[in-house]
Amino acid sequence: MDAVLKDMPNRIYLDNAATSFPKPECVYAAMDDYNRRLGAAAGRGAYRSAAEASDIVRRCRRNLATLFNAEGPDRFAFAFNGTDALNLALHGALKPGDHVVTTAVEHNSMLRPLRVLADRGVEVTVVDCDEAGRVSPDAVREALRLETRLIAVTHASNVTGAIQPVAEIADIAKSAGALMLLDAAQTAGHLPIDLRSLPVDLLATSGHKGLLGPLGTGVLYVRPGLDEQLETVRQGGTGTISEDDRQPTTMPTRFEAGNMNMVGIAGLEASTRWILDAGVGQLRRHEQELTLRLLTGLREIPQVRTFGPAAVDERIGVVSLVAEGWPPHELAAVLDAEFGIEVRAGLHCAPRIHERLGISKTGGTLRISPGPFTTTDEINACLEALGRLSSG
Ligand SMILES: Cc1ncc(COP(=O)(O)O)c(C=O)c1O
Repeated sequence: MDAVLKDMPNRIYLDNAATSFPKPECVYAAMDDYNRRLGAAAGRGAYRSAAEASDIVRRCRRNLATLFNAEGPDRFAFAFNGTDALNLALHGALKPGDHVVTTAVEHNSMLRPLRVLADRGVEVTVVDCDEAGRVSPDAVREALRLETRLIAVTHASNVTGAIQPVAEIADIAKSAGALMLLDAAQTAGHLPIDLRSLPVDLLATSGHKGLLGPLGTGVLYVRPGLDEQLETVRQGGTGTISEDDRQPTTMPTRFEAGNMNMVGIAGLEASTRWILDAGVGQLRRHEQELTLRLLTGLREIPQVRTFGPAAVDERIGVVSLVAEGWPPHELAAVLDAEFGIEVRAGLHCAPRIHERLGISKTGGTLRISPGPFTTTDEINACLEALGRLSSG
């Protein structure tokens, strides 16, 4: 992996599940180039800089289509983050009287829109998970009803790292005639996702986590044939069919009202190209090596308890733990102040899984999440610091 300069000496960033840092150098260069040299809106003017901006948007969609093996670039609409993409999907797909099946593993970006929809008459069933944060496909099947419109599931837990059996769940949705929404915020760029073989109808993801783009980017994929079945949450100018005061009916403009985050998309275009060059398989191997090192080292610290599946091929590179005698927030603060190690503490916006694990009232967990530029030395430094603090 390329070495990337870090401006803050002695800083070890291990919160890539929140947002990835650092980004590949080409991301910074693309954003700077867009800002200084182009600066024009995409999809509006016909002059050269506007045409070049439109070309960046087209290339970014093409990269996404290649990365996810989708039917075409126009299946991807840009959103402002993973939460925004989930909101577009959930509010677009569900109306009062519909039933939706979701899981206890979900992030608040799924649970909160569903709560609002429930208050408006959508029926919501939340399927439980096991101690490792895994959801059983049978439990999803049992929760189905005649009026089930949607199954909405995260691809991997942002707390325990457990990868969900989404292929089986997507098959269940298909057999039941329900739509399937996949929250790929923690897996896009981390795991291979092939939309030609995984029958999900909607996929929402952040652009700024595993896709290595900047904050302020997100993506919604919509399966062909569904565009008009989804209501729009926002309406406005798209630079297309301007004579009509109705929102376009087709992807991607149906969900892209107003000017786009061009600086962000320029960064996401560069990051997705970088991922295609590096290969998701290679990134996954690096992440698995670090996760294995982390889990092995943590098991040697008797005061530490980790969560999630034991096998690294059943999880993503997110490792949560509690340490005897340490409230997670205090431990994170000391790791930062004394060792320059940046990790996340708390409920990670996923309250139900913490309830399931019985730790929602004790401050949740401390979460360590390496990224593509994390080194084994940095993981070792984190293990050493945790060992010293836990035994002291
Ligand atoms: C599983 C999961 N879904 C959705 C989100 C929301 O993503 P964003 O921060 O891009 O809105 C996150 C972010 O932490 C997440 O972990």
